[in-house]
Amino acid sequence: MTIAVLNGSPKGEKSVTMNYIKFLEKKNLKHKFKYFNVSQKIAKLEKNKEYFKKEMAAINDADGVLWAFPLYYCLVPSQYKRFIELIFKRRAEHIFSGKYAAVFTTSIHFFDHTAHNYMEGICSDLGIKYAGGYSAGMGDLFDPEERKQIEYFGRNFITSIQKETAVLINYYPIEWKNFNYKEKDNELKTDQGNKKILVLTDSTNPGSNLSGMVRTFWSCFNKGIEIININELDIKGGCLGCLRCAYDNICSYDGNDGYTEFYRNKVMKADILIYAGTVRDRYLSSRWKMFFDRQFFKNHKPVLSGKQAAFIISGPLSQLPNLREILEAEIQMNMANCCGFATDEAGNSAAIGEQLAGLAEKVAEASTAGYSKPRTFLGVGGMKIFRDQIYSHLRFPFKADYYYYKKNGLFDFPQKKRKERLLASIFLFLTRFKGFREEVYNHRMKDEMVKPLKSLLENI
Ligand SMILES: Cc1cc2nc3c(=O)[nH]c(=O)nc-3n(C[C@H](O)[C@H](O)[C@H](O)COP(=O)(O)O)c2cc1C
Repeated sequence: MTIAVLNGSPKGEKSVTMNYIKFLEKKNLKHKFKYFNVSQKIAKLEKNKEYFKKEMAAINDADGVLWAFPLYYCLVPSQYKRFIELIFKRRAEHIFSGKYAAVFTTSIHFFDHTAHNYMEGICSDLGIKYAGGYSAGMGDLFDPEERKQIEYFGRNFITSIQKETAVLINYYPIEWKNFNYKEKDNELKTDQGNKKILVLTDSTNPGSNLSGMVRTFWSCFNKGIEIININELDIKGGCLGCLRCAYDNICSYDGNDGYTEFYRNKVMKADILIYAGTVRDRYLSSRWKMFFDRQFFKNHKPVLSGKQAAFIISGPLSQLPNLREILEAEIQMNMANCCGFATDEAGNSAAIGEQLAGLAEKVAEASTAGYSKPRTFLGVGGMKIFRDQIYSHLRFPFKADYYYYKKNGLFDFPQKKRKERLLASIFLFLTRFKGFREEVYNHRMKDEMVKPLKSLLENI
């Protein structure tokens, strides 16, 4: 049996993920693992159609496909995303259709589920029989128990191919509306005061719904807003995963392209950020993914604190809750306030115009009021993963993060809440006594829970 391993790490063979796959290979010596460094070779795959065809033919010869990649910003690396786009663009779906595939990732488990959801959806779109996914932590391979689990996963994948095990389809095709947005300038203007509004778009076609929506949004304000096309930015390539930035936030591209300078001078200086993109497969474009991945120079710092953000999306966003979650997480993890989304899904130009006008008012008002709604599990849970990792395993090499977290009180471990811990210990001790237990758990729990809130309300 031959397994085509599609390596998504831009680091090629020097990849953590690939070491896990080498382990699987060692445990399955009867079978042949063929490696394709698609992320590292993305420029060649893109430019050289013959090379792309040759690689596709070799993948075609395999019995199964293993999508193996590192998690990058809740998804696959931008180079891998581009590879997926090329498969559809060059009509190579048939190479994959009917084959069994599995997904293997390494990460720190930060939004690993969204990357796996995405890939499962892509497998469905390609007509692949999705045999399951495995999300390994970066250090799992050192643990003999974890190795057993990984080994089981590999064996199970191969058995699924051999036995042609039936699979459940969880993702069905995305349906697009055939609709042309007719833009109309908004007459009622929103006053944005002295707030700087920056719209980032990736639209390449002035006649597209997205371009029209961005222009309508522009017309909603009484002063100018800045619109920048991320395709026109000087970005030489996707994040290379080299971690040069971990020491002092200097990116290895610095001096060769303009990304970090742009991010520091434009994105970080805006008060209101609008991200505008068109759905491509089950995410936005790989260009957008590249833009997000390259933010990694700032590592795990929430650098958009106090800003308002919103999204203008062309395409079936309501059918892609996974994408929506990723976009909201992006904002929450940067500690900005997500004001919402406007899309063209209504299929009615007047309604879309109203949505855009509403969004314009919303971002301006929230910015003036300094509003920031509470983060949900996406931001709260995500920050806890970062906090723990930066404090422990990732303290080295992420030196810049460590000092930033320390300085800004982001190491907010509950152990530090001494008074709360003391009180909890006292009450825990008291639960040893039957009388206390009965009184609290049977009679007073509800009243005691609201007592401090009631007293607060009386004094406000
Ligand atoms: C640009 C970038 C983005 C990342 N994003 C995530 C992420 O969203 N979630 C996560 O758990 N790990 C994330 N990581 C960590 C990598 O997934 C992890 O280090 C992985 O094991 C690297 O594998 P590789 O050596 O095969 O490239 C990110 C790393 C980089 C460089």
